[in-house]
Amino acid sequence: MTEGVEIVVAEDGEAAARLVAERLVDQARAGGDIVLTGGSTPKLAYELAAELEPDWSRTSLWWGDERCVPPDDERSNYGMAREALLDRLERGPRAVHRMMGELGKDAGAVEYERQLAELEAFDLVLLGLGPDSHVASLYPNQPTLDETRRRVVGAEAFLDPYVDRITLTLPTLRAAREVLFLVEGEDKADAVAQVLAGEPTAAAPGSLVRAELGPTRAVLDRAAASQL
Ligand code: 6PG
Repeated sequence: MTEGVEIVVAEDGEAAARLVAERLVDQARAGGDIVLTGGSTPKLAYELAAELEPDWSRTSLWWGDERCVPPDDERSNYGMAREALLDRLERGPRAVHRMMGELGKDAGAVEYERQLAELEAFDLVLLGLGPDSHVASLYPNQPTLDETRRRVVGAEAFLDPYVDRITLTLPTLRAAREVLFLVEGEDKADAVAQVLAGEPTAAAPGSLVRAELGPTRAVLDRAAASQL
């Protein structure tokens, strides 16, 4: 336990992905609202989760952020999850709340705010972590970190892919019964140390995300945990 975060260090990326897949499946079987992350790291966890449980009909899916591209674009976070998880299920989620990246960052954020209108809190928020300690599309020292009224905002990208983004805001990510980080690789070790063992700071947005209604956990591979 570091700074209120329960940390599990797995042998390697596959072992880390399997632990996260098992947690996703537990939640899918229990039902409720799950927030998926984008990026490349969670793809294997989504594939393993689909293998473990083909029936996700009790759960609703949301995204923490999206790139402002059409859903069939290779940079789409929804597109990745559709290929790695949704298309492999026998019974899909009762609701798939996709961020409409194709609308652009501002109209897309307004549209997702509308989708979130009835939701009070998430049951499980899965987050990746950038080498710069960004989470979702909340980048270091950006005004998006100060947003307290809106639940979703448009954002600029400060890392590849350099396309506009739609992202949940900090208060929305915190409104969760569990936050779970999945982080792999040596290139993330400094960010992991800052985010999981450092003081909360806008310079490391991940350090500002802790679940308000339950535990905050992190599944790391050995390389990502090497600076802890
Ligand atoms: C995105 C993500 C972002 C991601 C990190 C890590 O849209 O890019 O949601 O927050 O989790 O950038 O990305 P990788 O897993 O590809 O390293």
